[in-house]
Amino acid sequence: MIYRNFCLRDLNQVEGISRESFPFPLSKLAILLLSVVCRIYVAVEEGNVLGYLVLGEKRAGGLFIFHIAVKSGCRKCGVASGFMGHFVDGVCSVRTHVSNAAAQRFYKKHGFKVLKRLRYSGDEDEYLMRREL
Ligand SMILES: CC(C)(COP(=O)(O)OP(=O)(O)OC[C@H]1O[C@@H](n2cnc3c(N)ncnc32)[C@H](O)[C@@H]1OP(=O)(O)O)[C@@H](O)C(=O)NCCC(=O)NCCS
Repeated sequence: MIYRNFCLRDLNQVEGISRESFPFPLSKLAILLLSVVCRIYVAVEEGNVLGYLVLGEKRAGGLFIFHIAVKSGCRKCGVASGFMGHFVDGVCSVRTHVSNAAAQRFYKKHGFKVLKRLRYSGDEDEYLMRREL
């Protein structure tokens, strides 16, 4: 498996993974816009995209994980951990829905701690998690 920068030919597969991973997935247009303002990386095996990471940089410094997702049949095999090892260093934050126990466990495994609970009136609350290195 290799980890590399997103390119246009990955678009359909990244959109597909987003669709099967999130209730509000990224559209193709959103992915293209994000590829301009953020960094998008993909994990690829034999031409198949197994997962993607959308990583942003805060103006005040540090990174934030905007999206990370792995194809449903390929989870718990270290694909997302590979993104963390390759591209996520230094201070980093992420928001995760309170019901997303798998994601929280994943981030905790990678040194993130819950900073606070973000309360929303409509959508589900989220935890703001942060890693200080
Ligand atoms: C969260 C996600 C990206 C993890 O990707 P992954 O490739 O399966 O993760 P890895 O195999 O690299 O890491 C495995 C670790 O993550 C955690 N984890 C992953 N899936 C888990 C699950 N279903 N239940 C509990 N812990 C889980 C565990 O800490 C696990 O380590 P362990 O097996 O030693 O306990 C993946 O589950 C996913 O795509 N989820 C849907 C999208 C999503 O929720 N993204 C995060 C939004 S904030």
